[in-house]
Amino acid sequence: MDKASLDRPRLYGRSKGRPLRPMPQKLMDELYPQVQIDNQPDLSGFKETWMEIGFGAAEHVLHLAQKNPDVAILGAEPFLNGVAKAVMGIDQHDLKNLFLHHGDARDIMDSLTDGALDRLYILFPDPWPKTRHNKRRIINAKFLDDVCRVLKPGGTLFFASDIIDYVDWTVTRLKLNGRFKLQSTSPGSWRTPYPDWPGTRYEAKAIKAGRPCHYLTFKL
Ligand SMILES: C[S@@+](CC[C@H](N)C(=O)[O-])C[C@H]1O[C@@H](n2cnc3c(N)ncnc32)[C@H](O)[C@@H]1O
Repeated sequence: MDKASLDRPRLYGRSKGRPLRPMPQKLMDELYPQVQIDNQPDLSGFKETWMEIGFGAAEHVLHLAQKNPDVAILGAEPFLNGVAKAVMGIDQHDLKNLFLHHGDARDIMDSLTDGALDRLYILFPDPWPKTRHNKRRIINAKFLDDVCRVLKPGGTLFFASDIIDYVDWTVTRLKLNGRFKLQSTSPGSWRTPYPDWPGTRYEAKAIKAGRPCHYLTFKL
């Protein structure tokens, strides 16, 4: 049983898809242990540390790592096939700055020292739209207290979603927390993707379905 199910509600749905093909499986067996955050990689040589929670099919986390070789990028994702995609990207592009956790991002946050992160990305988190499931949303008061601890003063939180109710929910909870400053107050500007944005699979699904996406930025 994983830690999440022992002391806190599980926030995600399925964590396995199709069985891995031989090459991704080999890389999970051999390369993943070398880039696993749990094995406490030495991050002292990097100029900053950024983390992405729930990187899905790994498009954005791989893009960050490729574009910013002097930044340590931490990625957490419980879905095995997504983690395997990230490991394949590390192998293909010979990335030395991407470190992964196959599991709940909250485990990694608990292990980080105060102010360890310069940036935190939460992109298209699971929306849990039914009211009785809202408590599974990753954005909640306890989680935001944890974000305040692990983000440096002046650090940045990026939150993108296509679910307007989740955008409102997040803005309300960040206001209640009181420590985050929304970087743009014009709702129109929330509709513009972040600079140098590679897109993600869920964003593409939302656009195809006609749901407008929102890209919010907050500073601590
Ligand atoms: C809707 S998908 C979005 C994936 C990707 N960010 C994108 O935009 O395509 C949400 C992702 O968050 C992951 N997730 C859910 N709870 C998580 C948690 N506690 N820690 C890390 N990842 C989580 C899910 O497994 C899923 O891959």
